Amino acid sequence: MHHFITGIAGFIGSQLADSLLKSGDQVSGADDLSLGRREHLDLARKNPRFYFIKSDLSAAAQALKSLSAAAKWGGRPDIIWHLAANSDIPAGAKDALVDFKRTLQTTFAMIETAKSLGIRRIAFASTSAVYGERDDVLSEDSGPMLPISSYGANKLAGEALLSAAAETHLDRTWIFRFPNVVGPRATHGAIFDFAARLAASPQSLKVLGDGLQTKPYLHVEELIDAMEFIVSRAAERRNVFNIGPNGAGTSVKFMAEQTVARMAPGTPIVYTGGDRGWVGDVPRFRYDTKRLKHLGWRPKLSSDQAVLRAIDEVARVYGR
Ligand SMILES: NC(=O)c1ccc[n+]([C@@H]2O[C@H](COP(=O)([O-])OP(=O)(O)OC[C@H]3O[C@@H](n4cnc5c(N)ncnc54)[C@H](O)[C@@H]3O)[C@@H](O)[C@H]2O)c1
Repeated sequence: MHHFITGIAGFIGSQLADSLLKSGDQVSGADDLSLGRREHLDLARKNPRFYFIKSDLSAAAQALKSLSAAAKWGGRPDIIWHLAANSDIPAGAKDALVDFKRTLQTTFAMIETAKSLGIRRIAFASTSAVYGERDDVLSEDSGPMLPISSYGANKLAGEALLSAAAETHLDRTWIFRFPNVVGPRATHGAIFDFAARLAASPQSLKVLGDGLQTKPYLHVEELIDAMEFIVSRAAERRNVFNIGPNGAGTSVKFMAEQTVARMAPGTPIVYTGGDRGWVGDVPRFRYDTKRLKHLGWRPKLSSDQAVLRAIDEVARVYGR
């Protein structure tokens, strides 16, 4: 089986590549290295079943060139795992073109390229941000879906394009609505920020918002396990799944306090105030993951456990 991964040098893409290689399959992929890092691919690059292309996938012509090169290397890919996107949500809030280009145009380009090359399966990394700000426990059927960030809007538009393509040239699509994901190789996110700031200046830790923002966090290892499980088991033309941890979410306050305790005990935490970290931040949400449990996949860790494990992993990177 040949997998093509977009955003393969990123936090999640690179670990998906490692996991698929471990199962004995062929893996190729592309990344423009705008947010991803070449060193995330160090392990994969040692494997002869791995092929990397540095390419900006927002233009359909570039995307076609990249996939054609991958097909020449290892035969036509059986599936595209589309993870390339702008993961820097505040950057997209400042300049909507960033999300439009890196998130929506890459999705459009991958769907068109799949059509040109006869690739019939696409798995897509979507997000809880597509739901917008709602009071109910978010299930795959929650609606109306009215995103409050340009990031969420462009992901929702991507879901819609995939759904339409499933009527024409795709046999099967999988839409994963990730929660917040934590773990090694993170390129962004609260734990990543806190750790970097504590390492640079341990006098005090500035935290955006009032710290009461509370969301589900999933460890990247469990996320990848769930993604592979869903693709192997969910066989509808359109498969939409929330992926989340066990039980309740974790507050930003807990994450800040635990990162301080692990990396720089005693450092005072200063909250900037307000109920959210940035424009477009959904301060609280809860996930209904019954559909995934029904399919047969359950997480092992709670949100707090995933966070504590990720804090320990990032602290070790800083030699703490
Ligand atoms: N990490 C999370 O908490 C989280 C939550 C919800 C959804 N997601 C989604 O999961 C996917 C992976 O996220 P991540 O956390 O690994 O982020 P990441 O930034 O580490 O990975 C995204 C990768 O896409 C690449 N990329 C961006 N624009 C590109 C372009 N035009 N052409 C080629 N490559 C391009 C980046 O260089 C980066 O390596 C993204 O689609 C993201 O929106 C992540």
